[in-house]
Amino acid sequence: MVLVHNGIIENYLELQQELILRGHRPESQTDSELFGFLVLDAMEEGIDFVSAVRQSFLRLRGACSVLVMSEREPGVIVGVRNGPPLVAVVDPEGGVMLASDPQPLFVMGHEVFFLENEDVIVLRERTFEFLNLVTGLPVERTKTWIPGEDVASGLGSFSHFMLKEIHEQSRVCSDILEQMVKRSQEGALQWRDHAAMNLLAEAKELCFVACGSAWHAALLGKYWIERWARIPVSVELASEFRYRDPVLRPGTLVVGVSQSGETADTLAVIKAVKAQGIPTMGLCNVRGSLIAQEVQAFLPIFAGPEIGVAATKTFFAQSFLLALLAVYLAEKQGKDLTVFGEAFFQLPELLSKQLKLQWSENGTSCSLGAQVQAVVEGFSDAKGFFFIGRGYCYTLALEAALKLKELAYDHAEGYAAGELKHGPMAMLEKGMVVVVLDCKDAWRGKTISNLEEVKARGATVVGVGDPSDRELQSLCHHWISVLE
Ligand code: M6R
Repeated sequence: MVLVHNGIIENYLELQQELILRGHRPESQTDSELFGFLVLDAMEEGIDFVSAVRQSFLRLRGACSVLVMSEREPGVIVGVRNGPPLVAVVDPEGGVMLASDPQPLFVMGHEVFFLENEDVIVLRERTFEFLNLVTGLPVERTKTWIPGEDVASGLGSFSHFMLKEIHEQSRVCSDILEQMVKRSQEGALQWRDHAAMNLLAEAKELCFVACGSAWHAALLGKYWIERWARIPVSVELASEFRYRDPVLRPGTLVVGVSQSGETADTLAVIKAVKAQGIPTMGLCNVRGSLIAQEVQAFLPIFAGPEIGVAATKTFFAQSFLLALLAVYLAEKQGKDLTVFGEAFFQLPELLSKQLKLQWSENGTSCSLGAQVQAVVEGFSDAKGFFFIGRGYCYTLALEAALKLKELAYDHAEGYAAGELKHGPMAMLEKGMVVVVLDCKDAWRGKTISNLEEVKARGATVVGVGDPSDRELQSLCHHWISVLE
């Protein structure tokens, strides 16, 4: 049995116990493996492969999609969607490929079937068909032509997509500006007409719901919107918000922030609040996504496809768009933020210059790459990492820690610098690395005051900040300048 599983089986413990009682010995800690045993058992009872997959799938609780192959039924692949997306891309020369997104399959074709929830697809050597999960009866699905580039050939000279996407940030920045705003000759910002922005301007309060990096970007957005536009913003983890009993005041607009627009928890929140008659907005990268379809008003983040699993350019795009929206909301209230307009329009060039200057395409033979490499080489035996900052840098610290965990598989925590003394300081000792992020803003003095204590405990301090900040630099064991 070969399985691909996207999503979560919520009743896996119950299923695991049942399977162990039946004599199975699951070898992994994953919920995915259990599904394979369910299908095998059903086939042992004489049920055909496709029905065995359907019946077993119906026993699962939670949002998930699967693809299954069995040695006993060679030449057949069965796919089921219930939650996470599943698409079938047709090769005009024959054949079908399945994935969670059509983008990586454009190398083969652009004719795409988007499976709906409770759809089953059965691929055989020369045919394929769609069935209903519950009844097993055939269902009709129409294919859509989706334009787009073959992304694999778009890698160019970059060694991987994440690096390529980091380099795309300058282009993303100009695209966002182009789509959102123009500058008059006097420097005033002239906003383009997006339906979503009217809805935003009408809101008395905003409630952002998101997960992971999108949640961090939303938190940064909260800091800006509250500071500049003085509109109260709450930032909610969708996976928590969904299961508690939140109170939303009249006049609140719920904004789902999501790169993919398909994240199950964020989508579930949007559906639930929409059902209560609360206005909803989506800030997503993928235009036809489920969240984009569900919300009352949708605003794309204009980042283009993100192939790397770790959000980089989309975190930037979400954050930058939220900064623009904060200024938009502030201007609606009569505040003059022309100064931001000037800064925003300088940003693409500044980004491009810095990226070219500091990051070569292989990521190392350049000043920033070399600096980073020289610093991290000493950390192969580090006991753990803390990323700390205050204000805007706090939200970046959260995102940096997530990136380190996700990409280097090292233990890392993002912390508000002022919170270290409330417990985590106990963990700081020789062998721990504390990365302090600072952008020489109003919070800087406070951040500096936290460092002495960190150093006294023996932790290694790495500063990431403005090159002119000599004082902070002198307090750190290692230093990485964010700008030249
Ligand atoms: O597609 P979404 O933005 O809704 O995804 C939410 C998170 O899974 C995502 O931001 C994740 O944390 C990042 N890819 C991590 O780099």
